[in-house]
Order: sequence, then structure tokens, then C-alpha cells
Amino acid sequence: MSPAEKVIARCRQLALFTEQPGRTTRTFLSPPMRDVHRLVGEWMREAGMAVTIDAAGNIRGLGGPLDRPRLLIASHLDTVIDAGAFDGIIGVMLGIAMAEANPGCSLEVIGFSEEESIRFGFPFIGSRAVAGTLDEATLARQDAAGVTVTEAIRHYGLDPDQIPDARLSPHVFAYLEFHIEQGPVMEQRGIPLAVVSEITGITRLRVTFEGSANHAGTTPMSGRRDALTCAAEWALALERMASREEHLVATVGTFEVSPGAVNIIPGQVRATLDLRHPNDRRRNEAVRTALQYLQILGERRRIVIHHEVTMDQPSVAMDPDLRARLAVAAGDAPEIASGAFHDAMVLAPLVPACMLFLRTPGGLSHHPDETVQQADVELAIEAGIRFIAGLRP
Ligand code: HGY
Ligand code: MN
Ligand code: MN
Repeated sequence: MSPAEKVIARCRQLALFTEQPGRTTRTFLSPPMRDVHRLVGEWMREAGMAVTIDAAGNIRGLGGPLDRPRLLIASHLDTVIDAGAFDGIIGVMLGIAMAEANPGCSLEVIGFSEEESIRFGFPFIGSRAVAGTLDEATLARQDAAGVTVTEAIRHYGLDPDQIPDARLSPHVFAYLEFHIEQGPVMEQRGIPLAVVSEITGITRLRVTFEGSANHAGTTPMSGRRDALTCAAEWALALERMASREEHLVATVGTFEVSPGAVNIIPGQVRATLDLRHPNDRRRNEAVRTALQYLQILGERRRIVIHHEVTMDQPSVAMDPDLRARLAVAAGDAPEIASGAFHDAMVLAPLVPACMLFLRTPGGLSHHPDETVQQADVELAIEAGIRFIAGLRP
């Protein structure tokens, strides 16, 4: 099996470890993550790395002399719901492939425990532990079952009091993340590899629409306070706003309707907004417009609306010097901005960071049909080896 075939086979093997039989769903420190840690640990050891799992559930492989400057290669091992096999995972498998290629420098490979925010509604638990930015508020967040992050760590058999020990080693002089583009741009432009210039900024809101439930048959249309039609009008207004502006995207990804019966006017809707733009000023202006829509609709429809900002992540540029080195190592690969967020944006404030994208066939991601081309994986491995050979800490 070639190194690229091995990378792909391992991603597909890990995709079988899931909370939901028949589809890939693996959230923060859920039971299937134990199987992932067991197998990834074996592969890291076979690549000559010493393996540990830190208090935030990150699996960490260390290769080469410990007291020398080291390159950190990392990405995440959790997934979204009904995920593909490559988002995040391929970055860890390519990190192990770099170790197997005996790069001649000290390497640390980390499989972050959580980046997708599915279980606790906030992303980057693993990489924020490494960056030292995992705060008490996040540790106290609860999942749908009322379990906190701290309790989830304990249930997994780890000690949350040890989280400070997960901090980035002072020996790390640079960060590299391989990742799939997760969009259609590279395929449209016919490019197998691309260097990430910047990672888009994101704002997330949680919004509650409070109307009044009532009988669907006896309540005249004129007297209704329908939470669902108010929320739907808001979602459509956001779609119109984002459709008018390139680089702005807005997604109402969840709608929880209650009481939720065929013959009851919806009394309450809980919705989320994920809004992104690479320019922070424009992103914040778009958020203000979204909140103005809420105010207008709430007054006109007599709906009481509450909102909470659950994420406000500025856009982050990747390190210029590493971008140039990576572009040369990847055969003068072009640059592309990332519409998805990544752990690299959490580490970038602490250490020069760069990302290498692989083409996403069909532009499909956060979907079970997400895939990669083996030839692109081969190019990524060759580019990674050249990049590392050219690095001088
Ligand atoms: O949502 C994102 O951008 C990432 O895939 N978690
Ligand atoms: Mn993702
Ligand atoms: Mn990802």
C-alpha cells in the first residue's frame, strides 16, 4: 500500500467509529473516540512516536529529539453529524505520514479532541487547551443531557485539573495543518493543492422566538403570534442579505419548534445563525443588520425575541513566510481563503501557522460523500516532505 493509499484507508477505517450506526458522528470524547485513540496511538507508535493523551482528550505523538525545535502538525478527530471521512481526520493521518517519512526534524502530531462544536455548541475545545485559552465558561458548558465539558473529561477517565499541562511546548516553532478545502473553488480552478491565505471570521447567534401556542383550527390568522413564521421570515431575510454580497454567508442551521404538533400554532422557536465573512468589519455590519431584522419582525409580529452571541471569532491570516515556503514546496500552489474555520486559527496567535488544502471533489463536505483524490493526497505528502526539509527552525 502506498503512503497515500494508507492515509485514505486509515481515514475510512476511523470513519467506522461512530455514535450512530450507519453514519459517521463522533463528538467530544464520546465512546467511539476510545477506538480512534487506540488505533491512532498504534499508528503513531509504529511511526516511532511517543504517544500521550492530554487532559482535554487530544492524542499527541512526539517524534525526534525532545529538546530540539519541533514542527507541530495537527487537526481534529471529532466529526459533525453524518460526516464524511476526511474533514480533520486527513490532517492527522498526513501528520503521521510525515513522521513515517523520517523528516529529519522533531515532530509533534496532535489529533485534537473537538473542533466542530456539535456536542457543546462551541468549537475548538482541544486546540484551545493547547493554546491555553480554554476558559471556565467553556468548561462549564452543558450538552443536551446536561453534562458539562469538565464532567465529560472526567467520564472519559481524564483529569480536567491537568488541562494546563496540555499547553503548547515552547519547543514548537511552527504549525502546519493539512485539510480538505470543503468547498468547490479548487475543483472549479483545477488545482489539487492550495495554500490558505486567511481563515474567515465567524459570528454565531442562538435566537429564541417567543410567540403564543394556540389551537390551529379555531384561532383566526389575524390574531396569531406564530413563532415559526416569524423565524422563517428572519431566515429568508438573511438569505436575501447574504445572497446580495460575495464572501458573505449566513446559515440558519437549526430550528427547534415547540410544542411541535400538527394542530398547534408554534409558540416557540429556538434557532441558530452561523454568519461568516473574511472581512471583520463587514461581518460585524452584517450581524447588526441581522439583529435589526429581529427587532423589526418582533415588533410587527408581536413576538418576543432573545438572542445570545455564542461565537465571535475574528478572521485570522496565516503566516506570510510559511505561506511562501508552503507554496514553493507544493509546486507554486496558489493561495485561497478558507470559508471553513480551523484549529490553525486558534494556534496562529501563539506560533507561525500555515495550512495546505487538498481539493474536495464535488465541493461536498460535512456530508457522507465527502472524498479526496488519491493523486492529490500523493501530492500533499510530497509537498509536506519538501516543506519540512526546507524549514530551518
Ligand atoms: O464549520 C466549520 O467551518 C468547520 O468545518 N468546523
Ligand atoms: Mn468541519
Ligand atoms: Mn475541519
